[in-house]
Amino acid sequence: MDTGTLSLDGQAALVTGGGGGIGRAIALCLAAHGADVCVVDIVPERCDEVAARVAEYGRTALPFPADAMQADTLRDAVEAAAKTFGRLDILVNNAGGVSRRDFAALQEKNWRRHIDLNLVSNLAATSAAIPHMIAGGRGGAIINVTSIEASRAAPGYAVYAACKAGINNLTRTLAVELAEHDIRVNAIAPDFTVTPGTRGNFTGPVDESKWHQPSAAQVEAIRKRIPAGRPGIDAECGHLAVFLASAMSSYITGTVVPVDGGTWASGGWVRDSTGKWILPPEA
Ligand SMILES: NC(=O)c1ccc[n+]([C@@H]2O[C@H](COP(=O)([O-])OP(=O)(O)OC[C@H]3O[C@@H](n4cnc5c(N)ncnc54)[C@H](O)[C@@H]3O)[C@@H](O)[C@H]2O)c1
Repeated sequence: MDTGTLSLDGQAALVTGGGGGIGRAIALCLAAHGADVCVVDIVPERCDEVAARVAEYGRTALPFPADAMQADTLRDAVEAAAKTFGRLDILVNNAGGVSRRDFAALQEKNWRRHIDLNLVSNLAATSAAIPHMIAGGRGGAIINVTSIEASRAAPGYAVYAACKAGINNLTRTLAVELAEHDIRVNAIAPDFTVTPGTRGNFTGPVDESKWHQPSAAQVEAIRKRIPAGRPGIDAECGHLAVFLASAMSSYITGTVVPVDGGTWASGGWVRDSTGKWILPPEA
């Protein structure tokens, strides 16, 4: 029986937004399992820090400071990775983000920015990576970081959620289009995860000493809403990314996998103050 392997030895990856948070965790998990990694991030110090950690795993790192909203620059990053590593096997479209505001209060420049960051970046990197994966003749893995907000109403996050829903369907469609090349396309859908972004550390190096700490009310809200009773940890997305990149998932494509402590499954049920599961309006 083939017992499978999570090894990514000899493979090459590119991670957008790889300098912090979920992207950083994915980059490091891929490197820990043998992949060389190109780290694309808008903050140069973050690229360098993650590249140094990738090298500690004995892998080759290519730090590529760039704004993922610039499609041409992102294409350059893909070309540089393919040239440096001589191949490209794994693309992780992780760059993304959101600021909360009701749709009616947004201007066109706001929603275009959300679309560029969350959707166009994905299209640009994916379209640049596919020819390298096909030319390599070894297949490949495209892993999109979406969100639980793609699959439910997300008041205050309308454009972000629409982009992530677009990514979910892009994942399914490209999985079908690329199956003949053995390029698998899957998505990771986190719920609330502790990252520099969710702790207010958007610029400069990742520095946990500067992170906002959640209030007691926020901790309680998470305990009520997320069945696991806690936020996600970035490495939990990293672990899934390794699985989705590896031969262990060789027959898995076109899926969106929640990494959410059970939120999606809970479908609106929340804990009351005694810990009992209830449905609003009982709540
Ligand atoms: N953290 C969560 O709770 C959560 C939940 C659901 C989905 N997600 C998704 O996970 C992904 C990562 O989120 P995160 O919380 O780790 O974010 P984060 O803000 O903590 O980290 C994002 C990284 O991307 C970089 N980045 C930001 N804009 C960039 C740009 N234009 N070009 C290149 N790099 C850029 C940042 O410098 C940072 O290092 C996003 O797609 C987000 O939508 C996050």
